[in-house]
Amino acid sequence: MMVQVQTSVHQCRLIDLPKVRNRSGNITPVIGTEDVPFEIKRIYYLYDMPGGESRGGHAHRDLHQLIVAAGGSFEVMLSDGKESKKFYLNHPYYGLLIVPGIWRELINFSSGSICLVLASATYSETDYIRYYQDYLQYIRTGI
Ligand code: TYD
Repeated sequence: MMVQVQTSVHQCRLIDLPKVRNRSGNITPVIGTEDVPFEIKRIYYLYDMPGGESRGGHAHRDLHQLIVAAGGSFEVMLSDGKESKKFYLNHPYYGLLIVPGIWRELINFSSGSICLVLASATYSETDYIRYYQDYLQYIRTGI
């Protein structure tokens, strides 16, 4: 019998990233497996979202992600099917770690915001669960 280990929103947390301060501006370097608990295989960023826009109603089966408000602000709603948690991201030196198996929605982007995502794997459509009904079945059955 397959034992399904369900992840929880409590495993998702803010990570305080390094910050090199300078009079002319700051730098935040991120080193995979040191600053984030996975090897970074891909980065991508969302931009040109109209103010107030939402994205990303889906879950990932295996992907680990760190989400950073590289510019501006937005909110991240997380759910594991039982509990939910909401984060407001508005500083480039905080990253929100999202473990696999968590439903997420990114809402209320400020105009001109940039959502930087560090991910543990390259893009794979089969890793996505795009419908909430499918997600509820996935956490119940693992399929
Ligand atoms: P998706 O992750 O579905 O964004 P959202 O849920 O925020 O709308 O990505 C939208 C499309 O972009 C997806 O269908 C394919 C493409 N895409 C890539 O080609 N590579 C990537 O790394 C990502 C994240 C998306």
